[in-house]
Amino acid sequence: MRTDILHVGADELTYEIRNIVNVGDTLKSLGVQVNWENIGDPIAKGEEVPTWMKEIVAEAVYENQSYGYSPTKGLLETREFVAQCTNARGGVQIDADDIIFFNGLGDAISKVYGMLKPTARVLVPTPSYTTHSSAEAAHAGTQPVTYILDPNHLWYPDLEDIENHIKYNPAVAGILMLNPDNPTGAVYPADVMRAIVEICEKNELFIICDEIYQNMTYNGTTSAPLCTVIGDKVPALCMRGISKEMPWPGSRCGWIEVYNRRRDPMFATYVNSIINAKMLEVCSTTLPQMVLPRIKSHPLYQEHLKSRIKRYERFSNLAYNILKNVKGLLVNRANGAFYMSAVFEEWVLNHQQTLPIEIDEVREIIERLVSGPNIQPDKRFVYYLLASTGICVVPLSSFATELQGFRITLLEKEEDEFVQIFETIADSITRYVNSSVGRGHCS
Ligand SMILES: Cc1ncc(COP(=O)(O)O)c(C=O)c1O
Repeated sequence: MRTDILHVGADELTYEIRNIVNVGDTLKSLGVQVNWENIGDPIAKGEEVPTWMKEIVAEAVYENQSYGYSPTKGLLETREFVAQCTNARGGVQIDADDIIFFNGLGDAISKVYGMLKPTARVLVPTPSYTTHSSAEAAHAGTQPVTYILDPNHLWYPDLEDIENHIKYNPAVAGILMLNPDNPTGAVYPADVMRAIVEICEKNELFIICDEIYQNMTYNGTTSAPLCTVIGDKVPALCMRGISKEMPWPGSRCGWIEVYNRRRDPMFATYVNSIINAKMLEVCSTTLPQMVLPRIKSHPLYQEHLKSRIKRYERFSNLAYNILKNVKGLLVNRANGAFYMSAVFEEWVLNHQQTLPIEIDEVREIIERLVSGPNIQPDKRFVYYLLASTGICVVPLSSFATELQGFRITLLEKEEDEFVQIFETIADSITRYVNSSVGRGHCS
């Protein structure tokens, strides 16, 4: 190239949740039977969309309007419906004008960070759902600025760490929260949310809150929606969607609710720039917006959601009870969404550990992969686990964190299979860790 065509943030865009699929696919073609526990798609893991929901979608397919463009911000009736749902929670009150639809939150996320001034930073959690942390880092052309989620305290945000970042980094303009959280499965109660809102008010920051899993909490927890704790001073963008809840990830349909837009003229202009960026694309997918109110207000919707949540609760406990006994592993029970993150204690992993791999060609591939420069110890474990057992999880270090561990989904539908997967992981960790004992490598 006669001129440099690379964006300053090009190196920041990585998505290990899907990168690991390339390795899994290669191993699969060589005869490894892969269990995909890496990606948060309930449909891919066998969840059935109920017939009544399919019928609503089928009806919409026969409506001509579903083939047309929709208004840039989204269909008015749907935005009115969404605003009504938010207002019914009794906190901040919004109207249809405060809602912008996107082609999934992935689209919303790339516009929200993409339209921010490159020098303005959003403090993101560590570990962090990569789509947020990578998009934020790419907009700034450098590493994300992170605050700690503490695995020793239910993965709650470390408020002191947040305050220190704000105090010593004047570039911080906003804070990202995910509630319930991906990758940890944590659910933040109202006091945690309120404390962050207070910090933002004191320091004139705005909030981005990803609530895509808002209605998916269990084990006696409920996550406080931002709209109920935000008050009337802090400007915020709250993200919601249908990918996980219906679940309909292939619909590519999510939205932003704007709170307290008028509190700050610069924030209002920023929101307008996001709408204008969407306008260049014309609009988001029409059909899912058309059916959203019909599906969410259907008499069977709540029951459908409840039965799914009940299964996640049961599986979260099964997973926790198996992994909590593994020496050197720190686990928290997932209380929301359908992920769980396990952390290896510092002394556990090294670069000599292995697991037996039956197929020679597979072993050669893995040995080549783990001999690469700067391979993270948890990625090394994840590769061996995949090659040895076929179980595909995501290294925790790929979620913008120094912590070593892995994220696994709770989506496997068959209970026996689920238990077997977790028991195999527990056993594999012990075998992996002990594989270098006696070779003088266990530090
Ligand atoms: C926290 C979080 N936000 C957003 C998304 C993306 O959602 P969408 O399918 O609407 O792009 C995901 C997907 O896994 C997620 O976990």
